[in-house]
Amino acid sequence: MIILGIESTAHTFAASVITRKGEILSDVRSVFRTEKGGMIPNEVARHHSNVADEVIREAISKSRQRKLDLVAYSSSPGLSPCLRVGLEKAKEFAKELNAEILGVNHCVSHLTSGHLFTKAKNPIYIYTSGANTQIISLEGNKFRIFGECLDIGMGNALDKFGREIGLGFPAGPLIEKLAKKGKYVKLPYVVKGMDLSFSGIITSAINKFSKGVKKEDLCYSIQENFFSMLTEVSERALAHTNKNEILLIGGVAANKRLCEMLEKMCKDRNAKFYAIPLKYAADNSVMIAYQGFLEYSAGKRENIEESDINPNERTDQINVIW
Ligand code: ATP
Ligand code: FE2
Repeated sequence: MIILGIESTAHTFAASVITRKGEILSDVRSVFRTEKGGMIPNEVARHHSNVADEVIREAISKSRQRKLDLVAYSSSPGLSPCLRVGLEKAKEFAKELNAEILGVNHCVSHLTSGHLFTKAKNPIYIYTSGANTQIISLEGNKFRIFGECLDIGMGNALDKFGREIGLGFPAGPLIEKLAKKGKYVKLPYVVKGMDLSFSGIITSAINKFSKGVKKEDLCYSIQENFFSMLTEVSERALAHTNKNEILLIGGVAANKRLCEMLEKMCKDRNAKFYAIPLKYAADNSVMIAYQGFLEYSAGKRENIEESDINPNERTDQINVIW
């Protein structure tokens, strides 16, 4: 079975072709970036429309496959105009290729792709991306969310600070670089039970920046607080569930300092730490193709006339049938 995956929920338009064994035959991406300012949904959707055909055709031709069996696309959650571009392209190509079609949840795809690339078996998932920061555990046939951000996701919080100090989008990698030259200045530390709140910390950092505190010091201190907060609740989740594996996924998983903190905590508790490889941490279409394969293999089918998007679907609404 050969699967074409299409990703379009936010900044990345991507297409890839994989086999049923998870072998990656092609992986083509076009990422929306800015020098200054953030993501405006209609602008991002325009970017996706402009590149979609080229990205998909390149993914198909690089795979050297004549017959594709399934087109999997990210149907939820995400920016509506961006999801629509993915949906329309998935329908168009499913018809052209005479293939089945299946919409999958983008966040769940981040989670399951962790198993494609690491040896984690039954982990606590730390999902920290642009829009989400969640501590998740699979219990029965549902992903249970043990804790999450109460306002904005960690990546979006980093991007917001970056925007204020003129770093452009995405700011996470640049903040990581600047942080290496910084020293600690006091910022709020906000953990409420198992939940986290980042926006007050960013407001405080922006205030300090306007009063002349060095951006390197603020980048370092934001990272130290954000990552310590996440490590604290992750440790509590391990203790509550008696699990002994952490699997870090989502775009912020690319951050070395975050990995270092979680790894140390795991070592102290005799737990195993896994992080998704850098290349597959952020949005990609391999994870969409793989999730499509899992659900299709478990018997899920979709009528192309009823294919649609669901911008607000949550991870804990999904029935884990695979
Ligand atoms: P979601 O999966 O919740 O819909 P998303 O798809 O926008 O959100 P991802 O592509 O998984 O998110 O991650 C993008 C985020 O990761 C951006 O906010 C970016 O700043 C952040 N990021 C990328 N690299 C790093 C890094 N090295 N350090 C910190 N943050 C990073
Ligand atoms: Fe994502």
